[in-house]
Amino acid sequence: MVDSLKKPSFEELRPGVKVPAKDTILTPRFYTTDFEAMEKMDISANEDELRAILEEFRTDYNRHHFVRDAQFEKSWDHIDGEKRKLFVEFLERSCTAEFSGFLLYKELGRRLKDKSPVLAECFNLMSRDEARHAGFLNKALSDFSLSLDLGFLTKSKKYTYFQPKFIFYATYLSEKIGYWRYITIFRHLESHPENQVYPIFHFFENWCQDENRHGDFFDAIMKAQPSILNDWKAKLWCRFFLLSVFATMYLNDTQRADFYAVLGLNAREYDKEVIEKTNETAGRVFPVILDVKQPAFYDRLEVCVKNNEKLTAIAQSNSPKVLQLLQKLPLYVANGWQFVQLYLMKPIDMTPLEGTVK
Ligand SMILES: [Fe+2]
Ligand SMILES: [Fe+2]
Repeated sequence: MVDSLKKPSFEELRPGVKVPAKDTILTPRFYTTDFEAMEKMDISANEDELRAILEEFRTDYNRHHFVRDAQFEKSWDHIDGEKRKLFVEFLERSCTAEFSGFLLYKELGRRLKDKSPVLAECFNLMSRDEARHAGFLNKALSDFSLSLDLGFLTKSKKYTYFQPKFIFYATYLSEKIGYWRYITIFRHLESHPENQVYPIFHFFENWCQDENRHGDFFDAIMKAQPSILNDWKAKLWCRFFLLSVFATMYLNDTQRADFYAVLGLNAREYDKEVIEKTNETAGRVFPVILDVKQPAFYDRLEVCVKNNEKLTAIAQSNSPKVLQLLQKLPLYVANGWQFVQLYLMKPIDMTPLEGTVK
């Protein structure tokens, strides 16, 4: 019999259905946008590339990939205690992020169907991929006797509105960072099979190719709208989105360093590698990227990590809420200050390289 103390308890909506993690600034978001503006978008400047990407989506390379095989057919009760909690958190976060992509792409596919059929089909086929990814992760949660009620999540979670160009910056980055996250874990485990503690990571190699293709789609769509890439505002916004995505990942992953340690990874080294690669990739389309090799970049993020640890300790204390807020305030300000300083760091301009093969 498994010692129940070794199985962390999670709040449940119904037996076996986990209450979704509370929304914070660091949790995956759901997005909505200006669908009419999307309908009116002229893609003719890069239509050939977009049609080529559509052909790739139609080929559906991963049609038979997401099948739970014999590797899963065993008990996972030996992943227990804190390790089990970290696994569940990882699966939930990943499932929510994938499902967020599914919802947005599905809605875009539906709304653009009549006015912009090429884009609509691309979005529909990407939503097919994201549904598979989210479904596969939700099935993995069932190995830990839990699942997410995705219908409930659809209705209960707050949606963040972004105008189309911000959707493009954000989803492009989240697809590309997703690609680098999955492939980096896959390659690491390939060379360290002793850390292969759960079979889902075997699936990451083909899986990340879906994310890479999705990222290429947003690359192509941004290139079809040069106005969102070629002025000073684009430079400022690209810096903002790069920094937000990198900082969010770094703060999340350092908080969960123990999860990465189970896989034999150092969370900080892993994140640095993923940030560097994603930044480099983004330079193929963004007019500007961040100078992430400056030691000050991670020094400042580390200050935020420390502040966040203090914030967590305050939230877990028994002090009255008002007192907690007063204690938290200076830490929020300190994090905001670090973010501004990071934002103001001199970026790397990619525009002089235009015309060369990037
Ligand atoms: Fe995905
Ligand atoms: Fe994706």
